[in-house]
Amino acid sequence: MNNTMKERLLFLICFLCISFMLKAADKPVIKISTENVDLIYRVGDNGRLYQSYLGKRLNHATDIAHLPQGSEAYLTHGMEDYFEPAIHIVHNDGNPSTLLKYVSHTRNQVSPGVDEVVITMQDDKYPVTVKLHYVAYQKENLIKTFTEISHREKKPVQLHKYASSMLHLNRANYFLTEFSGDWASEAHVKEQPLEFGKKTIDTKLGARANMFCSPFFQLALDGKSEENQGEVLVGTLGWTGNFSFVFEVDNKNELRVISGINPYASEYSLKPNEIFRTPDFYFTYSFKGKGQASRNFHDWARKYQVKDGNQTRMTLLNNWEATYFDFDEAKLVKLMDDAVELGVDMFLLDDGWFANKYPRSGDHQGLGDWDETADKLPHGIGYLTEAAKKKGIKFGIWIEPEMVNPKSELYEKHKDWVIHLPNRDEYYFRNQLVLDLSNPKVQDYVFGVVDNLMTKYPDIAFFKWDCNSPITNIYSVYLKDKQSHLYIDYVRGLYNVLERVKAKYPDLPMMLCSGGGGRSDYEALSYFTEFWPSDNTDPIERLFIQWGFSQVFPAKTMCAHVTTWNKNSSVKFRTDVAMMCKLGFDIKLADMSKDDETYCRTAVQNYNRLKPVVLEGDMYRLVSPYGSNHTSTMYVGKDKDKAVVFAFDIHPRYAEKILPVRLQGLDADKMYRVKEINLMPGANSSLSGNGEVFSGEFLMNVGLNLFTTQQLNSRVIEVVAE
Ligand code: DGJ
Repeated sequence: MNNTMKERLLFLICFLCISFMLKAADKPVIKISTENVDLIYRVGDNGRLYQSYLGKRLNHATDIAHLPQGSEAYLTHGMEDYFEPAIHIVHNDGNPSTLLKYVSHTRNQVSPGVDEVVITMQDDKYPVTVKLHYVAYQKENLIKTFTEISHREKKPVQLHKYASSMLHLNRANYFLTEFSGDWASEAHVKEQPLEFGKKTIDTKLGARANMFCSPFFQLALDGKSEENQGEVLVGTLGWTGNFSFVFEVDNKNELRVISGINPYASEYSLKPNEIFRTPDFYFTYSFKGKGQASRNFHDWARKYQVKDGNQTRMTLLNNWEATYFDFDEAKLVKLMDDAVELGVDMFLLDDGWFANKYPRSGDHQGLGDWDETADKLPHGIGYLTEAAKKKGIKFGIWIEPEMVNPKSELYEKHKDWVIHLPNRDEYYFRNQLVLDLSNPKVQDYVFGVVDNLMTKYPDIAFFKWDCNSPITNIYSVYLKDKQSHLYIDYVRGLYNVLERVKAKYPDLPMMLCSGGGGRSDYEALSYFTEFWPSDNTDPIERLFIQWGFSQVFPAKTMCAHVTTWNKNSSVKFRTDVAMMCKLGFDIKLADMSKDDETYCRTAVQNYNRLKPVVLEGDMYRLVSPYGSNHTSTMYVGKDKDKAVVFAFDIHPRYAEKILPVRLQGLDADKMYRVKEINLMPGANSSLSGNGEVFSGEFLMNVGLNLFTTQQLNSRVIEVVAE
């Protein structure tokens, strides 16, 4: 090679290098950041979008260039990837593939501390647009993601898959925690390693969506999840219907997490220019274990998501377990007196107050006919709201407006409003069927249940909105040839109704109930102030159930009632368990001794004083009931001046070594007085150090001897800075 040739070659190499560098610099890098977390996308030379990074925030801009390209962000069906796609569209010409290329992205501030990034992609052969939305909540280290899918083909395209989010992780090991169970046994914490292949957590229940498993998960990276250390990603879907989380470990041991509506039996025919907006998927990433992840969710939920998230909650007395269907005016008014005795804010009338042709004397009839049963309530609800008013308490009422008993006037008049298969025998879950909320007329009717009650009885201060049946016999007269839209349109119809309720009655608190914890998701909670985690109110079971739900939901959203379940446990034990959440009673004073009654009254007063700590503070799970004979949880006020610690001995063992419980979240340099409260009348505290002053440092490093060797013993400790 002569010199001229060498020079030419050198020039060519330099030119190629420079143009490559320019090209690389040209390719957008899209950073979605919170205070501690970065999710970074970059566009490849082929114009496609890749997730380069998800993890601890990278603060040196120049480092970004060193990141690997990563995996295709939102995988499509029909191209060169052989695992589960996020999106699968069949186009007008029958072509089932999609190839998305980056078009643009925007960034804007939604409000101080909240930023949104929208990445727009387009198919390079078909007029299909996919927009990935990311809303980053800085301080709470939480990211909300959703996807919008639209097209301009001539006829509808068929959507077979339409994920809200796809995330990629590349770590040595993955441990997945699911929250599964059954009716009265909700949200049990079960952890398992993820190996090659797929694990799906999903439901197909339609209305009562998450009876067997809850719509949230924890994913620990590298090692098993721990409360206060290690990396963990916690995710949940805001969708009150069929959901699906797919975890797939591929041939390179990389994990893909696809979250969204369960596409099962839900092929969606998307019209030209219609936007298919997926539900929101929310996730937080913690570097200090599950405890921090929970606190991120709690802070975010109270500030941004839950209805009246920044307001307090009412204590109440519910008549369900005190009377079931067997009540009349006199009994209810007597229970209101009990509510007054206890000092709670509200009386809540449960199921059984309505229907005349088929009175609601049991769960086999009456649902759908929302007029007061004349025999039971001759003077109507107005008499009860008036009685409550006179006694100085609020009045709340139970409804289950999405449902119908076949033995009802509604069913007789409007069978076309009922989800049922026209040519088959009906199958009933709790003797009832689900109304077809895809039908706007049914939406009007369901809205009318609330609206009529509120119009007639404006003093109603609270609704308990129940939903006891999954969708069975699935067929909609209204949807005709679009049957595969029913699961989705049902939920959309429900949201239309709830939106109208919220718009007309913005200050009306409502409890979300679904035969227990069958509905508990953050989209529903934008309409509801609280939810009923389980029909199981045995305090021992509740310790586990509340432990499960507390992973993503703050105390103020979780209703916990003192009932007669598990008579082996004292009323004190039952109340102490319920005081860790939103306290209520579902019991009559006649079921209690005088001492119990006095104890409960004082407990309600204590709870009212502690509400700012329990409902608004930071929660620390100190000792897990799983694999232990004891459990303890504490709440610390945001200013770290007040805290309350709950400790329970479930089943202490003979000669068991009992260790002190080390508190968390206090200020090491503050001095705190420690005092046992919620004592039975006449009882003295046996807690060593009771009434004494300790530094936060001592309490967090040495701890307090909270546990005992007594079966079903409980302690509530108030910790106040001097
Ligand atoms: C199921 C709920 O979970 C209970 O609290 C109660 O309201 C019943 N429904 C009433 O039917």
